Amino acid sequence: MSFILKFFNDVALFSWDASMALANLVIPQSPEDKVTPEGHPGFEGKWPEFVPRKEGDSRCSCPALNAMANHGILPHDGKNIQFKEMGRLIRTTYNFSPSFCYFVPNFAAKMLHKDYNKDTFDLSELDLHNGIEHDASLCREDSALCPDQSEIQVEYVKELLASATGKDKDGNPLLTIKDLSKYSAKRRIDAYDKNPDFSLDFGHKMFGSSNSATMLTIFGGRIKDLETVLLEEKLPEGWQSRVRAKFGLTLAHFNLSTVWWVEAGINKHEKKYKAEKKAAEEAAAGTNGTNGTDAAAESSIHKADSPTN
Ligand code: HEM
Repeated sequence: MSFILKFFNDVALFSWDASMALANLVIPQSPEDKVTPEGHPGFEGKWPEFVPRKEGDSRCSCPALNAMANHGILPHDGKNIQFKEMGRLIRTTYNFSPSFCYFVPNFAAKMLHKDYNKDTFDLSELDLHNGIEHDASLCREDSALCPDQSEIQVEYVKELLASATGKDKDGNPLLTIKDLSKYSAKRRIDAYDKNPDFSLDFGHKMFGSSNSATMLTIFGGRIKDLETVLLEEKLPEGWQSRVRAKFGLTLAHFNLSTVWWVEAGINKHEKKYKAEKKAAEEAAAGTNGTNGTDAAAESSIHKADSPTN
């Protein structure tokens, strides 16, 4: 697409998105138990049967798309999916806005050099490294260390969920923006120290915060639901999207209310975690009778490109 066409396309998309964000402010929200539209999987919280992935099924680094395939909302084998169809199904399953459901599958099609209108893809194709998939994820090991990006890192997910500090009105634990920033900071520092091929540019930092921000918006930060989604890649019995706005979660609202705040908090937490980690390493090296400063220097592989620089 020429530059001018792309410009008008982007302006049209963001104007469409902004108009839905404004409409959402005045149109009453759906009741909690009526978010999924009638005639679609998940209406009144009744999801199609969950069937775990079988040998040969295609799965990816995205827990939300894998869950759709495990319930047969996307093809259960995760193969030959149309980009347009995926957008339509994300709209009714998770209540993202039509603009998001157009924009992200379109981006994925471009990333895979495919035609959004005609081509199909398998879920595992989305794991193209430094396409949307990136290092320092919250639910996956870096691809250089674990090439199968559909593999859930149970330890990371449990650590993330255990770090929740919020509470709902009934006292149930909730993940907050600050919790996500803090755990993302830890993952970025740890991944940088562990993975010699580590990379995370600004765009991929934003992808990271966007993906993780869905845990707070679509899933409302609810630990019980997130356990099911992230560890079993299953939609909880009776669950419906926590976004009740009629036009769904728009790109504007998502970015301004959550994504930006998650990302903005990470830098501060990175500095704090880095200092704590260094102090702990020095203390451990001191107890082992080695020179603490040398040991700490050795453990930080490539200081010049630190994620906090
Ligand atoms: C066209 C739609 C989508 C595409 C192409 C997509 C793609 C991806 C990819 C490639 C990742 C891995 C990123 C990484 O390396 O951490 C990812 C992670 C994730 N996505 Fe999606 N996704 C889509 C829709 C959704 C939706 C609708 C939700 C929520 C309802 C969602 C929630 C998540 C979460 C929670 C993660 C894990 C983040 C992490 O491990 O740090 N995604 N997605």
